[in-house]
Amino acid sequence: MTTAEEPHDGSVEPSTPGAGPGSAAEPGSAAQPGPDTATDDGAVIKDKQVVYHDWESGHYDDKWSISFDERCIDYAAGRFAKAVPDATDLPYGRVLEVGCGTGFFLLNLAQAGIVGEAWCTDISSGMVAEAVANGRRLGIDVHGRVADAEALPFADDSFDLVIGHAIVHHLPDIAAAFAEARRVLKPGGRFVIAGEPTAVGDRIATQFKRAGRVGVKLAAVVLGSQRVVHDPRAVLTPEDRAAADLEWEVDLHCFSPGDLEALARDAGFTEVATVTEELTANWFGWLTRTVEGMVGAERLPERYPWVVYRTWQRLFAFDDHVASRVVPKAAFYNCILTGLAPDGSEPDAERDPSPPGQRRRGTTAGPAGS
Ligand SMILES: C[S@@+](CC[C@H](N)C(=O)[O-])C[C@H]1O[C@@H](n2cnc3c(N)ncnc32)[C@H](O)[C@@H]1O
Repeated sequence: MTTAEEPHDGSVEPSTPGAGPGSAAEPGSAAQPGPDTATDDGAVIKDKQVVYHDWESGHYDDKWSISFDERCIDYAAGRFAKAVPDATDLPYGRVLEVGCGTGFFLLNLAQAGIVGEAWCTDISSGMVAEAVANGRRLGIDVHGRVADAEALPFADDSFDLVIGHAIVHHLPDIAAAFAEARRVLKPGGRFVIAGEPTAVGDRIATQFKRAGRVGVKLAAVVLGSQRVVHDPRAVLTPEDRAAADLEWEVDLHCFSPGDLEALARDAGFTEVATVTEELTANWFGWLTRTVEGMVGAERLPERYPWVVYRTWQRLFAFDDHVASRVVPKAAFYNCILTGLAPDGSEPDAERDPSPPGQRRRGTTAGPAGS
């Protein structure tokens, strides 16, 4: 696992609404060390997560084009299907989302018929309140709890499915969070994490963000800065600006698929596997998102969101059907992870008596470090 070169925030590009919040990182990100290398300890980072995400919760859905209609239902269900293509007996009974934000993943999966009883947690009370309110608007009864993913307030063996979306790269102690997910899962329960940034994908995306910034700056020189560049921070109060600035500190990690698999195996999950997706779609998404962030959506042509969305969809399909056959897995931007809580019926190779943290790696799907 590497510390994020640029902060990540697993979220949708505003102009690529089909993406749903799944593409990590944000425009204008500056290089930041995560807790792997920084002096901040976990508690300090978590306080920042709360301040930043509480502030963001009120406008999070607008900012990231989150919706609870067919567009995002299809996106959420598509991510789940990549992890669990052969899911049967749907919906899962009791389902917990950790780091739920405003409920993008949980509520859209519920509408897709994948989630039965919906539970959600987030370290930000603002986010939990939004998720519960979004659920109410959709007629979905959501049980929300403010909780750290590293210390879940639930009994052992409580859930049939634990999910997360764009959450793991925010966590100081991923091993602790994965151990908690496994603890609260019933034997045989399913674990699915989506929307985590890969290290290689992030490095490539950085170049597209730079290209977007250079393009806008050149346009500003030619057409005049006033006509081109827009600064949304200019209207913020000093307090809000301080919260907004934490954006550059809350994204802590990016991963190789093997990193995530090893963490899941170390936590005791079996049948661990990862899938990656989004190559050219992500490059395009970063380019357009960077431009939008600097120029301001209101200055762009009316048809711009539609054209960008359609282009993004085509590139996404190209990545899935063509690029994935020839490009190494690690170069794709988004990683999806799945595993099962052991139920005692595992073959010997998967039953490991050693305590978590000392478990062998690479005993199930895919070698560590792939
Ligand atoms: C990028 S947002 C993703 C939200 C949502 N899952 C989505 O996809 O839209 C990351 C979320 O993780 C939450 N978070 C950060 N650290 C956390 C922790 N230690 N425990 C639980 N939630 C955490 C944040 O408050 C925020 O809501």
